[in-house]
Amino acid sequence: MIVGEQTRLRAIEREDIPIFVRWLNDPEVRQYLEMYLPMSVAEEEQWFEAQLKDDTSRIFGIETEEGRLIGNIGLHNLDWKNRNALLGIVIAEREYWGRGYGTDAVTTLLDFAFNEMNLHRVSLSVYEFNERAVRCHEKCGFRHEGRAREALFRDGSYHDHFLMAILREEFISEDQSKA
Ligand SMILES: CC(C)(COP(=O)(O)OP(=O)(O)OC[C@H]1O[C@@H](n2cnc3c(N)ncnc32)[C@H](O)[C@@H]1OP(=O)(O)O)[C@@H](O)C(=O)NCCC(=O)NCCS
Repeated sequence: MIVGEQTRLRAIEREDIPIFVRWLNDPEVRQYLEMYLPMSVAEEEQWFEAQLKDDTSRIFGIETEEGRLIGNIGLHNLDWKNRNALLGIVIAEREYWGRGYGTDAVTTLLDFAFNEMNLHRVSLSVYEFNERAVRCHEKCGFRHEGRAREALFRDGSYHDHFLMAILREEFISEDQSKA
């Protein structure tokens, strides 16, 4: 377990797969994610087996202090030479949106990424219309690095992505300024 203030990050298990399928088939959740096709249990099982062997990603379940699984968070495209990775997060139990769980899970994972995995840089891409996610990542210390224009086609029109990233020294100095 990686313990945050409001959340705990734990290993994901085969038994979680039906929950993931429910989450990823919720259009309200999926609108913010890359995937756009309905997801089957078989596909999710395949993904689960593949990620067990994948040395370039680390995925965790996000639990509340009461032990309820509310989402997943992970580091992808892990690049051990340049010490960077891409962060992805989904809080999929919607009643938990906007209550600080995302900010806590991201901060907890960044602490682990920089202080245990010894990463140097964590980046992400977020859709411009996903204002809650942009705000959450800004609060965690991510800086805006650019805009990928009209990179997403969704619901009949094109949308921009924001590219955001945080460096280890920025995370550490922010942490120290709070202490
Ligand atoms: C994005 C996500 C991880 C954020 O987690 P969260 O727990 O909902 O977010 P938090 O409560 O920690 O922080 C959200 C912030 O955005 C603000 N916010 C909420 N809705 C907003 C909106 N429509 N516009 C602008 N800001 C908004 C909140 O007020 C809060 O900021 P504050 O603390 O300054 O008031 C979560 O909502 C989620 O998983 N959404 C669905 C999937 C997704 O978008 N994944 C990210 C893809 S990059």
